[in-house]
Amino acid sequence: MQTQEERPARGQWGSSLGFVLAAAGSAIGLGNIWRFPYVAGENGGAAFVIIYLACIALICLPYLFAELLVGRSAHKNPVGAIKAIAPNTPWWIVGALGVLTGVFILSYYGVIAGWVFGYVFKGFVAHDLPFTEFIADPVVVVPLFALFMLFTVFVVLGGVEKGIERAAKILMPILLLLMFVVIVRGLTLPGAGAGLEFYLKPDFSKVDGPVVLAALGQAFFSLSLGMGAMITYGSYLPKTSNLRIAGGSVALFDTGIALLAGLMIFPAVFAAGEDPAGGPALVFMTLPKVFDAMPAGQVVGLLFFLLLSVAALTSTVSLLEVVVSYTVDEKKWSRRKSVWTVAVACFLIGLPSALSQGAVPALGGEGFSILGKSDFLSVMDFLWGNISLALGALLLSIFVGWIWGRRGAAAELKLGSGVSERSISFWWIFVRYICPVVIFIVLLNIFGVFGDFVGG
Ligand code: PHE
Repeated sequence: MQTQEERPARGQWGSSLGFVLAAAGSAIGLGNIWRFPYVAGENGGAAFVIIYLACIALICLPYLFAELLVGRSAHKNPVGAIKAIAPNTPWWIVGALGVLTGVFILSYYGVIAGWVFGYVFKGFVAHDLPFTEFIADPVVVVPLFALFMLFTVFVVLGGVEKGIERAAKILMPILLLLMFVVIVRGLTLPGAGAGLEFYLKPDFSKVDGPVVLAALGQAFFSLSLGMGAMITYGSYLPKTSNLRIAGGSVALFDTGIALLAGLMIFPAVFAAGEDPAGGPALVFMTLPKVFDAMPAGQVVGLLFFLLLSVAALTSTVSLLEVVVSYTVDEKKWSRRKSVWTVAVACFLIGLPSALSQGAVPALGGEGFSILGKSDFLSVMDFLWGNISLALGALLLSIFVGWIWGRRGAAAELKLGSGVSERSISFWWIFVRYICPVVIFIVLLNIFGVFGDFVGG
């Protein structure tokens, strides 16, 4: 029988597998399939991939456990959980930064998810329309964005177990299968070999400070870390859950899918004679060409973008859920009121991003340059999807490593998973020292503190 503490009234995962699939659903999304290939392409390919993998293993994995533990310890949202661990201190602000980051990431992530959903039909309705014209048309992109936010609202209204968990369980495996099909076709296209080389043969002369920040930011983004999504999902875990296995599986799935996405895109990019550094448009321009080279390509394309929409949906759901869990726990709003209010706010904040791809010239295109980015959406992605996640992770690892402390964190970790003292000591070195120090250096570097010495 479960006690009151083990089964809080606020919702809980139906099973460990359900949690793993839902958390992997949050992690796996456009970050893996849309963002990872283009960021890798812009940052030199194979060398970036190696740094990315190092970031996952050395920083993100230990940090992931820290987020899950904070969430499970109090069964609360990011702000509430931090308040419960360190009452009457200002550390809750770190949780609040995460909630805010969730709002802003969702605002532009929903726009791109809308494009993906549009691509489900585009192959049939407007096959030859170039991607750049497709996303420049406000009459197309704004309704698609609105529709995607509505999908997200419906899932999140369904609550933790019925909505999020069920969707993830059924659809994630199908996406994986379809990716394999596309990879095989891409690899067998003439000229694909050069893409493999770009993706797998590192050239470290291209690595500088911004490349490392891009890799670290991408690693956080891809694993949904640094803004409390894993605190929130961890808060729906019972104390009996084995965090080590659950967290490890999520990281493994997520990294595997990102690596596969690279394998899917780069051979095709080179076969099609495109530029791997083509930026956010990369996946949208390249994949349709692979589909065209397949029998029944339009149907494969439809299926692929449909499943990618679902992968994006399980991520937008987690972004919305972070903010909703905060307003429900801390502000005592009803779930319904929270979901609708937050979704509408994210939609309004997302409009400039939606209109930045050609619809409103002041928001993007020639002459637009903020922080070295060429449109408003990219600026948002850089600020919230990169800097803010790294900053959030820096602060939270300091919080866990130095404020919560080893006794509290280790006691929580031991519940449900038989972890030896030695493993805990090893993990602790990462959480307390390596994570904060490395993230701090990478962030300082981006603000030019080291001049040209490290940044090159
Ligand atoms: N991890 C998601 C993806 O890869 C994006 C995301 C970031 C979701 C942060 C939640 C929190 O698409």
